[in-house]
Amino acid sequence: MILIFLLLGVPGLQAHAFYKDRIPNGHHVTHPCPNHVTWPGVGHRNENGGGTRNPFGDDFAKHEHKWNEALCRADSDGDGLTNGQELGDPECVWTEGAEPALPSTSHPGVCDPWNSTECKDGNAWLQCGPVRDDDDTCKYFNQPDVMKMTLRYPRTNVPAVETTYSRMHFFDLPDDKEYHLIGVRFLVDNFDVVHHMGIERCSKAGRFDDVPGGCDVITIYNQGLKVQCVDPAAGFRFKKYLSMQIHWTNVDLRSDIYDASGFEVYYTAKLRPHDAAIFTVGQQILNIPPGQTSVVHHGVCSPRCSQLLLKGPIHVTSALNHMHYLGQSQNLTLTRPGQAPLTLTDDRRPTYGAPMMYRFSPPVVINPGDEMEVTCNYQSLSTNVTTTYGETSRNEMCYVYMTVYPVQNLVNFGVRADWKYSCFQNGNVDLCPASE
Ligand SMILES: *[C@@H]1O[C@H](CO)[C@@H](O)[C@H](O)[C@H]1NC(C)=O
Ligand SMILES: *[C@@H]1O[C@H](CO)[C@@H](O)[C@H](O)[C@H]1NC(C)=O
Ligand SMILES: *[C@@H]1O[C@H](CO)[C@@H](O)[C@H](O)[C@H]1NC(C)=O
Repeated sequence: MILIFLLLGVPGLQAHAFYKDRIPNGHHVTHPCPNHVTWPGVGHRNENGGGTRNPFGDDFAKHEHKWNEALCRADSDGDGLTNGQELGDPECVWTEGAEPALPSTSHPGVCDPWNSTECKDGNAWLQCGPVRDDDDTCKYFNQPDVMKMTLRYPRTNVPAVETTYSRMHFFDLPDDKEYHLIGVRFLVDNFDVVHHMGIERCSKAGRFDDVPGGCDVITIYNQGLKVQCVDPAAGFRFKKYLSMQIHWTNVDLRSDIYDASGFEVYYTAKLRPHDAAIFTVGQQILNIPPGQTSVVHHGVCSPRCSQLLLKGPIHVTSALNHMHYLGQSQNLTLTRPGQAPLTLTDDRRPTYGAPMMYRFSPPVVINPGDEMEVTCNYQSLSTNVTTTYGETSRNEMCYVYMTVYPVQNLVNFGVRADWKYSCFQNGNVDLCPASE
């Protein structure tokens, strides 16, 4: 099995224009950020970088993503108007497929006026300004030594099932020398179905449908990201073999959906000073009973494991939290011996569709013997079954991926083929070699 997206699978429930059909005037919900006319659908990020999450904040999940009287009468954003009033169904009589009584006047998940003092806290999730990881942060894309190539998945009829992991697709690239991949721009062809995609670099080629040996993930597209910029001090070294895979989610089970997403890859033969890698920490056993407001899991990379994992200090240039649909908040702390913990990532609200890339400049240094701890907090009010760790839409995860350098200071524990450099726990069991 191809593992690249194990970390990335997200529920089909989130992230689809599909939901526009489930609420009155769903195709005409006024978007909160200025200059934007309509709500682009659950999980989409608008061009201003405004996370759109879902139209009712957490209430949508609590009502199993269905329009009912309780959801209609609720005032999810606390601005004095019910959801029904904001969406043109003041009497709460609308049913799916019917014509709403009135046009929608405002967004039911955004407190209005959106930039008023009273609404400041409630609208904290909105980012109407520029996103951090935008073109600006990749100015070195224009440097004279930097080359660009476009890697696209061949146009494919997306299967009419909810979750599909595409086959690995291998590209025929220059093999004259080694290059550093120093960034990518994500080319999402069909936003309605692309949940995630990634680039792996491999030590040898595979056929179209093979899983080759020696691949590791170097680029992750998480819905809402536009570009990935590697720190100017480092690059991901590759020679000839890059492959990609896409995770599609086709919630409507439509058979007429096509996709040809890919990446614009920026690379250089003028190697950067350091070789980068993705380093992942997390917990791989999760048990989230239904109907809970909060279930917390931890993933610890103990001082003993980090001593074995690191041959010397590593520099963290960026970090990205990852949970699925039940994820409410997540953080990563780094504790050096005898010191207070440093917080590296701290998402205090669900980040689907608006992932927050934490960048560190100067990079954060992790030394052998330091401890890292990921804390994942889930809310399961919208489920009626126990949720466990796994790759499908209905499973959960608890990981943080970091871009680090130099790769030479990392040991591959061999726990996972795709995430070569990792420090995981299975429950309380450390997935690092036993000490001598
Ligand atoms: C709120 O936004 C409106 C429209 O963009 C603007 O005219 C107004 O000055 C803003 N108010 C504050 C307090 O920022
Ligand atoms: C991390 O998250 C947990 C659970 O939500 C919370 O209790 C803890 O205070 C957070 N830690 C930091 C440093 O934010
Ligand atoms: C669980 O929820 C699903 C989806 O809402 C529903 O179809 C199913 O009947 C529920 N099962 C139980 C046992 O409540």
